[in-house]
Amino acid sequence: MTTSLVYRNGTVYGLVMRMLYGRHYAARFRAVDSEIPSGACVLDLCCGPATLYTRYLRDRDVDYRGLDLNEQFVAEVRHAGGRADVWDLHAGNPLPSADVVLMQASLYHFLPDPAPVLDRMLAAAREKVIVAEPIRNFASSDNRVLATLGRRYTDPGDGTRSHRFTEETLDALFAGYADRVREQTLIAGGREKLYVLTP
Ligand SMILES: C[S@@+](CC[C@H](N)C(=O)[O-])C[C@H]1O[C@@H](n2cnc3c(N)ncnc32)[C@H](O)[C@@H]1O
Repeated sequence: MTTSLVYRNGTVYGLVMRMLYGRHYAARFRAVDSEIPSGACVLDLCCGPATLYTRYLRDRDVDYRGLDLNEQFVAEVRHAGGRADVWDLHAGNPLPSADVVLMQASLYHFLPDPAPVLDRMLAAAREKVIVAEPIRNFASSDNRVLATLGRRYTDPGDGTRSHRFTEETLDALFAGYADRVREQTLIAGGREKLYVLTP
């Protein structure tokens, strides 16, 4: 398996994310952090290097566990004191249960059929599911640097190259869960859309 440069280690990944999100970088984590109640047991799917954990949740009364395909990211989370495991969400196994099951900037990896992973998140969550997903396609940006980074950022190194959501396609997916969606809002300067669902 060849991991793309962007996903090779947390430092490179963090720099790319900062370039893509600019001054809205911290806001994307703050928006998710503010949805997590104290005392919650949190399962963070496709956690990456777990910036949400190291910058926000580590110092809170939260029981955190991250899952990611990328061994390097999982090792970095553990090194930072967090609980994390290598886990391929394409495998379809039931997820460990948690009060809050979340996924940020990763649902596009499951296109063209993201519903099964969302269904497994709902089955695993006791209190809420949080999904925050990019709705601006950096890969088609006029800025060549951003466009190149955006394309690399869609390549997890598992042989797949994903498409991306727009706000319309993401809303269409969540329309199928309308009875469970209790909040939806744009975050990070409109770069991501956050949905909170009741399981
Ligand atoms: C854009 S990063 C998002 C990381 C983090 N959630 C964030 O918002 O900064 C996408 C993550 O999804 C992970 N990923 C991609 N496909 C996966 C799969 N099939 N199973 C588990 N993780 C996967 C990648 O390794 C990467 O860490």
